Amino acid sequence: MKLLIINGPNLNMLGIREKHIYGDRDYDALCVMIRGWAQELGCEVELYQSNHEGAIVDRIQQAYFDGTDGIVINPAAYTHTSVAILDALKAVQLPAAEVHISDVTKREPFRQISYPGMACQAHFIGLGFEGYHEAMKYLVSAK
Ligand code: DQA
Repeated sequence: MKLLIINGPNLNMLGIREKHIYGDRDYDALCVMIRGWAQELGCEVELYQSNHEGAIVDRIQQAYFDGTDGIVINPAAYTHTSVAILDALKAVQLPAAEVHISDVTKREPFRQISYPGMACQAHFIGLGFEGYHEAMKYLVSAK
């Protein structure tokens, strides 16, 4: 089983950006944790981070051809704007789980819509880094 973990814009700035919201651990720490969880779950994992919407669309399309079995995605700010990422997820029809580190349901009104989330079968919101673990467990058990 091969999982693709996609992180959107500014998540490479974890540990620097708005620590009171996202915590003080950085993106590398998140990657180390995700690799550990993949070992625990006995699956392969690939990590991808981009600040560019089209690059994320390209990576989702590539997943259709490269043997990816499931996608964990934190689209970050593109959550609230990107029909293109929604359409890419719908196009590849791979099992997908949405993650948000913060509890977007309790934040600004503009964060209350998730376009990519409409193509995801599960949502892990406001659980911090643990949300990625829960999303990975969900995809492994759904397979
Ligand atoms: C986020 C929430 C988004 O609203 C925000 O734009 C992010 C991170 C989260 O993980 O909590 O960049 O996706």
